[in-house]
Amino acid sequence: MSAKERIVETIEASGPIPFELFMDLALYHPGGFFAGEILRSEKAGDFLTSPEVSPLFGETLAKFVADEHDRIGDPFQLVEVGAGSGSLLRPLLATFDVEALAVEASPVARAALSEFVPVSHELPDRIRGVVIANELVDNLPVALAQRVDTGWRERWVGLVADQLAFVDADPRPSVVDWLDSYAGPVTDGGWVEVQLAAGEWFSEVLDRLEAGSIVVFDYGDTAEGLLPRRKDGTLRTYRAHHLGPHPLDEPGETDITADVNFTALMDLAPEARLVRQDDFLRDLGLRDRLGDLRRQELEAARSGDEMERLRIRTLKTEAETLLHPRGLGDFRVLIYRT
Ligand SMILES: C[S@@+](CC[C@H](N)C(=O)[O-])C[C@H]1O[C@@H](n2cnc3c(N)ncnc32)[C@H](O)[C@@H]1O
Repeated sequence: MSAKERIVETIEASGPIPFELFMDLALYHPGGFFAGEILRSEKAGDFLTSPEVSPLFGETLAKFVADEHDRIGDPFQLVEVGAGSGSLLRPLLATFDVEALAVEASPVARAALSEFVPVSHELPDRIRGVVIANELVDNLPVALAQRVDTGWRERWVGLVADQLAFVDADPRPSVVDWLDSYAGPVTDGGWVEVQLAAGEWFSEVLDRLEAGSIVVFDYGDTAEGLLPRRKDGTLRTYRAHHLGPHPLDEPGETDITADVNFTALMDLAPEARLVRQDDFLRDLGLRDRLGDLRRQELEAARSGDEMERLRIRTLKTEAETLLHPRGLGDFRVLIYRT
């Protein structure tokens, strides 16, 4: 059964469903975008993430993990949640050898990961070490709300003339609480993605972390920083590296994602820091590494080794993408240490 058929069947059986259930069925249940045979987070897939762009992302993070290992000692485990194809863990583990676990919801990604690292579909009960999540939180199901006059309405998913469509619904108390805390002064007609599942996920990791740190990379901003994006909201789809159709049009066939409201996560761990990805990677030495690559490229050019020069140049260009101030460099990194 396709994700769309499952969604339609659910609505026909019991009426309109909250958007977070629609998103969950569209992404993670049989027939869902991440539940099929295709490995989504690959160069040949639907979106390009930092670790897919450059192995220097994982290599640079190895320094953070090694520093944390120095700080808290053994036992120590590196846990990557939503590890996708393993493009972060592979170069990281090649740089710093440490016990690791990949936590993944997608069966096809788990199969790919199991070739080189232990894999689970859920978080360990207790964690001592570092938890990393790159572009996971933007994929966690969101509820949808729209500002109408002076109040909020929820947008659920129903069937109108046999087509999936947004339908009006009274906002649930948990949704209103979240909006009152994190939406900010949204103008009439503005859309907000209500990230209750993101908060639940982050609380769960915080509860399980005995010592060490959590590092969350994603697109998004603080509640205040997101305000200019509220007129149309930030919910969108991706397919084959491009923005895809309307989220209700082809459930199961597209990625569905929203900008992360980091204020809502920071509230759960007030000691956490929020920085830009370019600053975070620079502080871990990526700019120095780029300087080394530039020198190596010149040496290869001088010695006439064109293959080597091209290899280094590619590595350098890919890594520069990680720091692009209006691209991946503009991602946010939440760092929590305990
Ligand atoms: C956008 S992909 C990012 C993959 C990888 N981190 C990267 O940067 O290339 C999001 C991944 O998170 C996984 N995922 C979503 N929810 C999850 C959860 N609750 N636990 C573990 N993995 C999850 C998806 O299956 C998918 O592989």
